[in-house]
Amino acid sequence: MAGWFDVPPLPVEAFGLRFPNPVGLAAGMDKGAVAVPAWEAMGFGFSELGGVTRHPQSGNPEPRMFRAPGEEALLNRMGFNNPGADALCTRLQRWHAVGRWPSHPVGINLGKSKMTPLSEAASDYAYSFGQLWGQADFFVVNVSSPNTPNLRQLQDKAALDDILSALQEMNRARQREAGPGASLRPILVKVAPDLSFDALDDVVSLVEPRGLAGLVATNTTIARPETTDAVARIVYRETGGLSGRPLRERSTEVIRHLHRQTGGRIPIIGVGGIANVDDAWDKVQAGATLLQVYSGLVYEGPSLPADLVAGLLGRLAGASWSDAIGAGNR
Ligand SMILES: Cc1cc2nc3c(=O)[nH]c(=O)nc-3n(C[C@H](O)[C@H](O)[C@H](O)COP(=O)(O)O)c2cc1C
Repeated sequence: MAGWFDVPPLPVEAFGLRFPNPVGLAAGMDKGAVAVPAWEAMGFGFSELGGVTRHPQSGNPEPRMFRAPGEEALLNRMGFNNPGADALCTRLQRWHAVGRWPSHPVGINLGKSKMTPLSEAASDYAYSFGQLWGQADFFVVNVSSPNTPNLRQLQDKAALDDILSALQEMNRARQREAGPGASLRPILVKVAPDLSFDALDDVVSLVEPRGLAGLVATNTTIARPETTDAVARIVYRETGGLSGRPLRERSTEVIRHLHRQTGGRIPIIGVGGIANVDDAWDKVQAGATLLQVYSGLVYEGPSLPADLVAGLLGRLAGASWSDAIGAGNR
């Protein structure tokens, strides 16, 4: 499909995939894969669909999404409203069948069904992963949404280890079934900005043993920064996860920490409060190989990916992307 905007090429390679540019759509915008071709047309270099859960869910009652325009923030408690892994699989197959599959990498964000107890989380994630394995290029384990009760406890080292080991077992099984030449799907973990550095280090300690392809930093925050904005003060009283500008600095701090702790050996997808090229460049300099936007797209509009890519090319001024990653940490 022809793009809606002129997006200059800025190719990036990460976890065995080629991205036409490093600016992607963050999880949660297209939970049901209803607009798959639109993201590429908008100029995104990749898209992350979902979060999807094993069982279909209607999510929390409305209202469950709030805007604080003065802070360029969103607050949501959607609660993984999604059609479920089986239905998502059918939709993705249909996009393929009608020839509308994007040429950029597509990831799927995996969540846990609300009805599944924490003790059975690993099989819940593994079911969705197994169903969708053939439909996407990479997968993100979301253990960081604040909107499913107790989900974030799964960032605990032992619980996360259980989930990742179940997923890698499924990964190998699906690879065998797919036959010679099939490759394992890259698996990434998405972390909350509210984790302490020690807790982030626990996640980092699983990267090598569990063969993680990368980390996504960060999800929305349960913190509520000071604000003088009258509307934001009211919105911030709502339960849920805050995104957009108030999240920007903490997200960048988490990226910087993860980049240092991993020695830059695995790619980090930087997400949280990116609304312009300065925000995007800060995250690259802190250690992000790829970037994603959600709230920024809501406030800035659909030309944001094209503007970010053009701006990033300008910042590079001929230098290589890999030299820019984490340059602020050296
Ligand atoms: C309405 C809404 C729904 C979201 N749903 C998901 C989700 O299903 N899975 C997930 O990992 N993150 C989800 N997120 C978090 C975003 O992917 C992103 O990590 C966060 O919003 C920070 O980026 P931003 O400041 O650019 O919005 C959601 C965010 C919003 C605002």
